Amino acid sequence: MINGIRSIEEADVKGKTVIVRADLNSAVKTSMEFAEPVEKEPKFKHNRLLKSPKLAAHARTVRWLASNGAKTVVLSHQGREGRADFIDLSHHRIILQRLTDIDVKFFKWNEDYISAIKKMKNGDVILLDNTRFLPFESKEKPAAEHAKEKTIKDLASLAQIFVLDALSVAHRPHATVVGFTALLPSYAGPVLMGELKALKKVESVKDNTVLVLGGLKPEDSLKVMEKMLSEKRVSQVLLGGGLGELAILAKGKSLGLKDGFLKENKVLEALPEMKRLLEKFNGQISFPVDLAIRKQGQREEISLAELPVGDMIYDVGEITMQNYASIVAKSDLVIFNGPLGRFESYQFAYGTRKMLETLCCSRAYSIIGGGDTVTALIRLGFKEKEFNHVSLAGKALLEFLVGEELPGITALSKNKL
Ligand code: 3PG
Repeated sequence: MINGIRSIEEADVKGKTVIVRADLNSAVKTSMEFAEPVEKEPKFKHNRLLKSPKLAAHARTVRWLASNGAKTVVLSHQGREGRADFIDLSHHRIILQRLTDIDVKFFKWNEDYISAIKKMKNGDVILLDNTRFLPFESKEKPAAEHAKEKTIKDLASLAQIFVLDALSVAHRPHATVVGFTALLPSYAGPVLMGELKALKKVESVKDNTVLVLGGLKPEDSLKVMEKMLSEKRVSQVLLGGGLGELAILAKGKSLGLKDGFLKENKVLEALPEMKRLLEKFNGQISFPVDLAIRKQGQREEISLAELPVGDMIYDVGEITMQNYASIVAKSDLVIFNGPLGRFESYQFAYGTRKMLETLCCSRAYSIIGGGDTVTALIRLGFKEKEFNHVSLAGKALLEFLVGEELPGITALSKNKL
């Protein structure tokens, strides 16, 4: 038990139908990214799911439940509407099946999953489709309101236990994150419990904190960045990846070919906000001073003066990383969330690798967060134990660290059923 939240590992799950809200949301390689083949990677006609540490972590939860005789119904979202990563969970099923060694059945929302759940035997596992395909899922409402949705009520009536297993979704007051807590005895799964225990330890480390932000989710990152800077919880923010490129655009530069990619992924919508924050926190937000492009199959570094370019930008440059490393070396706590470049390709993993290397060697307390950053850490050959805490949560982790209430956590701690 932690903060009034019960662990599922303390419950008797045998013969019970358990709904598990996991977070299988993983990176998807889009056909646009492969428009120009990188190194020897083939061109992909379709979007492709990348195996992520989230899938491995939740697979362990599913295995634990199944081996303890539960009938497990797994729920997860994938991607965001309008984006290329908004895909169904059929490929997730294959990976989950491989990782658990259990025959995982998959149902789309228009199929008869109700009868299938009723027929489940102890140890069976069903994965339902992308929860964000449900029109009500992403509406932000209290648990009791979400509990009135027919799909939530129907599923709850077939189950005896709800498990929230992901800190990474606990910041979303979405139907499948909080709705079941109003209807069923609810517990934290091992993945969420592990995060809560580890993060309790960092509450005391607060001086000279640096936030390193990359990735492609400015709408969340910018909110947390503003709050952390306003409340003086961080002294410096270092930007890379899509966020670094957005800052360069906010300073009036055009990137060239990359502008189209950022537009397609809705990153450009946050441009006015980025402009406002760069003005408000002048000098506290650093962005890349050089970048890496792919030119005739090779990495080439360019200065900002050379923009716009007709080549894809895939990474931050070496001068940027030297500057960032010297800032990190002087800090007490570093939170690194979101890769700084296209880490899947050796040539463009430089920025992300250099940041991880710097953190391994620094005296700073290091927290690595976010599914993509953790994927990068593993793919680049680092070990989790080289950092103080590795979290599967990205923005939820940042919100947790700034003391925001996370609806999923609150709903679990209030659950007395
Ligand atoms: C994540 O990857 O951070 C979680 O899966 C949450 O996804 P979201 O930011 O699209 O809600």
